[in-house]
Amino acid sequence: MSDKAYAVTPEWAGRAWIDDAKYQALYERSISDPEGFWGETGRRLDWIRPYTKVKDTTFGPGEVSIKWFEDGTLNVAANCIDRHLATKGDQVAIIWEGDDPSKDETITYSQLHERVCKFANVLKAHGVKKGDRVTIYLPMIPEAAYAMLACARIGAVHSIVFAGFSPDSLAGRIDDADSHFVITADEGLRGGKTVPLKKNTDEALERCTKGGGKVLVVRRTGNPVPFKDGRDLWLHDELAKVDADCPPVEVGAEDPLFILYTSGSTGKPKGVLHTTGGYLLYASITHQYVFDYHDGDIYWCTADVGWVTGHSYIVYGPLANGGTTLMFEGVPTYPSPSRFWDVVDKWSVNVFYTAPTAIRSLMGAGDDHVTKSSRASLRLLGSVGEPINPEAWEWYHRVVGEDRCPIVDTWWQTETGGILITPLPGAIAQKPGSATLPFFGVRPQLVDDKGTPLEGAAQGNLVLLDSWPGQARTLYGDHDRFVQTYFSTYPGTYFTGDGCRRDEDGYYWITGRVDDVINVSGHRMGTAEVESALVTHPKVSEAAVVGYPHDLKGQGIYCYVTLNTGEEPSDDLKKELVKHVRHEIGPIASPDIVQFAPGLPKTRSGKIMRRILRKIAEDEFSALGDTSTLADPSVVDDLISNRQNRK
Ligand code: WT7
Repeated sequence: MSDKAYAVTPEWAGRAWIDDAKYQALYERSISDPEGFWGETGRRLDWIRPYTKVKDTTFGPGEVSIKWFEDGTLNVAANCIDRHLATKGDQVAIIWEGDDPSKDETITYSQLHERVCKFANVLKAHGVKKGDRVTIYLPMIPEAAYAMLACARIGAVHSIVFAGFSPDSLAGRIDDADSHFVITADEGLRGGKTVPLKKNTDEALERCTKGGGKVLVVRRTGNPVPFKDGRDLWLHDELAKVDADCPPVEVGAEDPLFILYTSGSTGKPKGVLHTTGGYLLYASITHQYVFDYHDGDIYWCTADVGWVTGHSYIVYGPLANGGTTLMFEGVPTYPSPSRFWDVVDKWSVNVFYTAPTAIRSLMGAGDDHVTKSSRASLRLLGSVGEPINPEAWEWYHRVVGEDRCPIVDTWWQTETGGILITPLPGAIAQKPGSATLPFFGVRPQLVDDKGTPLEGAAQGNLVLLDSWPGQARTLYGDHDRFVQTYFSTYPGTYFTGDGCRRDEDGYYWITGRVDDVINVSGHRMGTAEVESALVTHPKVSEAAVVGYPHDLKGQGIYCYVTLNTGEEPSDDLKKELVKHVRHEIGPIASPDIVQFAPGLPKTRSGKIMRRILRKIAEDEFSALGDTSTLADPSVVDDLISNRQNRK
């Protein structure tokens, strides 16, 4: 191995589903005979009508069409619940750990079945049908999982909006999905603070121009909230009116399961659409092999169901595998920075999956918070969302995992549905900071900016040469944008938007986005979205937003703002602009740095040269490159001399 590596131990090679020999053989088979490989693995699901076709995919040039198991039918809820009832009815499916450490609940597969059926009957009673889009704006409470599975049970398509998004962001997503049913809660509770979800929903619905309809409200905190008769429904009232008999609907493998909005480099968020059969198969097989999940294991992914990680690795993957999945309502630092490890000990968690930003912040809080817990149950650790710096990786390994637990650094995206590049704990030696090698069926390639493939050790843009079953099929209502965004940069391939290095051992090291998407604490944010929010402020004339390295968040949001003539820059105005962006998009889009700029570096044709703004934000003043093509090269000196201190 060319770098420091952590070898697979004999114990792991012995216990894991996949050892080195199996990885080699199965990977080779999955690439040389995808039809055969996926045709066989597809049988891990229960099909109502078994498929006869396996793969029908093309990445263009020209038409882009992705179909897997096209003529098969199934039901996702039946696969995640009903088929486990005979053997695991009394096994815990979901452990819920509340924000307040004294609040928790365990839900067995039988209970999950009953609750999901009743929830689905409530949806049906209010006219929700197969194919209808249902917007879910909920905190991390069991009802979020019931709502997802209830939609799946009746063939409705869920669109979850992260509960940290603003009313405006929620309204945009309700309208874009043309959704006429919203599920929310009175309030959310995180770190002891309430989040006004019902109030936000009311505001959103006032702004909707297309979507809207009924609002189903879960009582979470019990604090009084405004209620609109005829439109708003309390879940507990509705549940009292329905029975628990709800047969799962037969759904085509290529019928939609969910839409999830994510940020792109331009324009408004994109409604990434995932379908039923291939997605569930991919979530389930990756959950089993990457986390080496065995019956009886307690598995905890700390993500929120508002992101794809929560979809695939809190709900669908673990439940399809008949597992026990822990759902956490709170935050890593409440009531203290020991919370994660207290929860690990409380429930004897075996597999723990979190994000680098959380690891870095807990690392900063000091080892004592970790070492005072036992963590004896932990066997495997995972990381996702952004590149993990080797220092944080080593700390996670040594302090949290006591040098005993392999770390799976899993690279994937909302669009990929499941993990694509990752170590398998019994098969692949880990190198801190590398996502290592592709999962079965995944064909990564590095290309230069012209699209020429790079061989051997190299650095370039990461593309994927062929489809895998979990891949997104389209952007809701905008297939052209799907083709344009992912398949036109390097025709005939799926472009990930990530830069990547491959070392001499063939290991992949993701270096971060190469487009105008920034990754803030593992959450994607389009610079264009933040810019649009800034320019809606009455004092702002123009804005340009870039990412810069941030110790805790990975990347921070750096905003260059030009004010309207006559407006005075001030610290108060900076604060006001930060507040404005939070209000427009949500707290995750909070600018870290605002710099007032009398002029932005533009080409003579008026295009903002972001490369220069990025370099200034990164403090790389010597690497600005050629500035002579700028319409007014002197703006650069001003930008440098007014460079704001990093936080
Ligand atoms: C982007 C996708 C996939 C769930 C969470 C984020 C970055 C994700 C890693 C990793 C390096 C990573 C990439 C990717 N990313 N995981 N293990 N190492 N980078 O999903 O919001 O769709 O963001 O997150 O840049 O493109 P997402």
